[in-house]
Amino acid sequence: MTMLEVDQFSVRYHSVVALNKISLRVEPGHVTTVIGPNGAGKTSLVNAIMGLHDYSGTLRFPFAPDATRTTEARVKARITLVPESRDLFGQMSVVDNLRLGAYIDRYQPRNEREGRLKEVFRLFPRLRERQSQLAYTLSGGERQMLALGRALLLRPYLLMLDEPSLGLAPLIVAEIFRIIQTLKDDGVSILLIEQNARAALKVADYAYVLENGTVTLEGKASDVANNPRVLDSYLGLGHKG
Ligand SMILES: Nc1ncnc2c1ncn2[C@@H]1O[C@H](COP(=O)(O)OP(=O)(O)OP(=O)(O)O)[C@@H](O)[C@H]1O
Ligand SMILES: [Mg+2]
Repeated sequence: MTMLEVDQFSVRYHSVVALNKISLRVEPGHVTTVIGPNGAGKTSLVNAIMGLHDYSGTLRFPFAPDATRTTEARVKARITLVPESRDLFGQMSVVDNLRLGAYIDRYQPRNEREGRLKEVFRLFPRLRERQSQLAYTLSGGERQMLALGRALLLRPYLLMLDEPSLGLAPLIVAEIFRIIQTLKDDGVSILLIEQNARAALKVADYAYVLENGTVTLEGKASDVANNPRVLDSYLGLGHKG
């Protein structure tokens, strides 16, 4: 069953229209990417989907119909967002940040939660090494791993990532995209917001180009990657290959 459907979906900030009647789908087990320039409305989209601000139009999670009611209902339905800001607790250690991520699942047996923590440490050995370090002292890449690790403790069905590669060095970007591929192989449905169009289109099944609050192009990721306008504006001749 489809994980997410938005139709005629709009977000406004007073007089500013951030999203203007867009439609989008996330199919199960797919990576769906939304690429687009600064200010296109990408963060507004995922924040509104998560229930963090108002929208008009239709928002549905067909796999979990009740999830549209509140942000908490979405989290309970294992819909989660790794925000652009990462939202870590700087004065807390790595492991405490992770434990807090799992806390929403407090009705789950403790040993199950600990098992999941081990899984996250397997995926991110760096976090295991640094588990007692305070979050604010982590590097940008480590912070992104921590934010992603915390989201994974919820065992998400629908995982939304808002520019996970933002500000990271190429090697770390490659590692983040490897993890996205692993999650996809595990069957997690992913809505990936990215400005790194090349990496995003490689891992994605389906892609939307969002410009100025409107979807200007959509299609299979491989087709979008070969679209002349996308090649020109987002993949740039210098980045080809
Ligand atoms: N709280 C707000 N109040 C007023 N305008 C806002 C607010 N948040 C976002 N906007 C505006 O809405 C538009 C879309 O912003 P948004 O953050 O969704 O873009 P984005 O695609 O995520 O950009 P970026 O790639 O820079 O993160 C921008 O013009 C922005 O200035
Ligand atoms: Mg943004």
